[in-house]
Amino acid sequence: MAYVDDIDQPPEIKDCLKQFSKNPKGFLLLSGWNGTGKTYAAEAVFKSFHYPDIDYRMFTTQTDLNLRWQKQIKEWGETTYLLNQITMTKLLVLDDVGTRVPSEAFMDFLYAIIEKRDRERDSVGTIITTNMNSSDMRLKFGDAFTSRVASGKCFRLESKDRRFKDW
Ligand SMILES: Nc1ncnc2c1ncn2[C@@H]1O[C@H](COP(=O)(O)OP(=O)(O)OP(=O)(O)O)[C@@H](O)[C@H]1O
Ligand SMILES: [Mg+2]
Repeated sequence: MAYVDDIDQPPEIKDCLKQFSKNPKGFLLLSGWNGTGKTYAAEAVFKSFHYPDIDYRMFTTQTDLNLRWQKQIKEWGETTYLLNQITMTKLLVLDDVGTRVPSEAFMDFLYAIIEKRDRERDSVGTIITTNMNSSDMRLKFGDAFTSRVASGKCFRLESKDRRFKDW
């Protein structure tokens, strides 16, 4: 896993990743096909971001978050604690958004996170990675969600699949 200074991305993207790792504010959307380096780039920002308290950053995927959400509903019957924890986090990476179409109830939870973090955008930063383009996101996640996550910087990573080797 690299730090942002060492990451191999076009200068415009690298500068933005660096800036975000120093002072995460608003939304940074990284889109692109499988293996283009979205998670790697988000991990680099996450790793490079230092804050006095480690709890000020959180890295999760949509699928992991869904599991945590389900567990909290099962155990506590509600998810206010998880929602508050995520909303307060100084740097949130939400990886792999759209890999699965969320249930309506989980979509409400995701939207609540995005809506709250949008309101706090001058003091907290959110990185979203996704395979979806804007039309797919509008279709699957709705206009209000898409409008907010696209309100900051949006980059489409264009490299070849760095993972895949043909056989
Ligand atoms: N800038 C980079 N320099 C070197 N290796 C990289 C870079 N970006 C990605 N990789 C490597 O390429 C592979 C794919 O990267 P990554 O997992 O970030 O892709 P992704 O865009 O998140 O894909 P997916 O949409 O399937 O989640 C990983 O093994 C990763 O370590
Ligand atoms: Mg990924």
